Amino acid sequence: MSVPEKVVQVCEELIISDETLRRVMDALDHEINLGLGKETNSSATVKCFPTYVRCLPNGQEKGKFLALDLGGTNFRVLLIDLEGGSTTAKMVSKIYAVPTAVMVGPGDGLFDHIAQCLSTFMHEHKVENVKIPLGFTFSFPCRQEGLTKGILVTWTKGFNCSGVEGKDVVLMLQEAIRRRGDVEIDVLAVLNDTTGTLMACAYKNQDCRIGLIIGTGTNACYIEKLDKVELWNEDHNEPKQVIINTEWGAFGDNKCLDFIYTGYDREVDETSINPGKQIFEKMISGMYMGDIAGLVLRKLTREGHIFRGNGADEIFKRGAFHTKYISEIEGDKVGDWTNCRQILLEELGIPEPVTDQDCIVVRHVCEVVSRRAAHLVSAGLACLLNKIGEKKAVVAVDGSVYRFHPCFHNLMTAAIQKLVNPDMKFDLMLSEDGSGRGAALVAAVASRTASD
Ligand code: BGC
Repeated sequence: MSVPEKVVQVCEELIISDETLRRVMDALDHEINLGLGKETNSSATVKCFPTYVRCLPNGQEKGKFLALDLGGTNFRVLLIDLEGGSTTAKMVSKIYAVPTAVMVGPGDGLFDHIAQCLSTFMHEHKVENVKIPLGFTFSFPCRQEGLTKGILVTWTKGFNCSGVEGKDVVLMLQEAIRRRGDVEIDVLAVLNDTTGTLMACAYKNQDCRIGLIIGTGTNACYIEKLDKVELWNEDHNEPKQVIINTEWGAFGDNKCLDFIYTGYDREVDETSINPGKQIFEKMISGMYMGDIAGLVLRKLTREGHIFRGNGADEIFKRGAFHTKYISEIEGDKVGDWTNCRQILLEELGIPEPVTDQDCIVVRHVCEVVSRRAAHLVSAGLACLLNKIGEKKAVVAVDGSVYRFHPCFHNLMTAAIQKLVNPDMKFDLMLSEDGSGRGAALVAAVASRTASD
């Protein structure tokens, strides 16, 4: 049994050739240069924010740090003990849900919620009377004006709290803590999750140059030479480099990716909370990938290619086909449809019988959609690797899609190999919990370099 020709044809527009991926790389390189340029940054879509993080950890960082991690539907508080000289860190952490009402409510409500979770955590761990240095991982596009000042430019990933865009999120956090008055904090750094991921990996591996997230959203940061960052207004002392948060999720917002854009992408975008924004992210990340596959499956059902043409609208209600289903369905051994059947019958309520032929088509759709995402991320990475231009570089990666999809890593490795300059060696390394440990490390390096 094989994928019917008609299905192959429907899916074809989601397959991107190597040649087209090279066009994507060139376009991204162009947009990044606009982002880095003094004159062009204000109108650029790929903002390339300097993070003010210039020194990497040297492995000797020591001490207790608090870390806050906000970037998705969960919020985490961590207490981390860096031991200096050891590649592991002791840590305790707690996850708190961010209710949808808080995600789209008033900004003060969000920061009050964060402050409340932090206070509860500090009391539970009996550190409410200690002023512990804190790193705040805030994984949204922020224009930084220093290590402890981050102005939110725009919300992404389903957040839309009023009164935060254009404001300094560190100040909003400090005000919320002051309103409570029961704990004190000492914020040493605000950072993006990509920066945290890079730093956590650099703690163990000196060749780390890029931090990448493929989770609910997607983004990458990389180490750039100061003389290439026209935007940089600060000193040019050693180290003559800074981590740039590219915010590549917004790549394509100026329509420069229209040559790969499909009707499915348009539908996902138009019904999102932020239409017209985060176009690259919406083709790749976990918040949207399941929806794209769901739309293709709905079309194939409507046209009668699967499930005997029954129930397309009820079954594939928008948002019903989760990204994790793609990982689970592709996790089945070829020819074994256990996960696939379970999802179709039990989770989505497709009426029996679900045939092997149906499963073949469903898997094909998942593969096409996840490969497109993996290939687009690879084009982005190959562009950054070529920009860095060193003989070898390690890429620190985190995020649910990369972690849980059974072959994302291999798909990426193979695609980057084809796209990157031939003399360049690279490694993709899982950097677990970068947004937590990375926040502590940025705070630790900041306090170390301040006292040097
Ligand atoms: C945000 C980035 C973040 C990425 C991954 C995007 O939506 O704009 O700041 O790094 O998601 O979490």
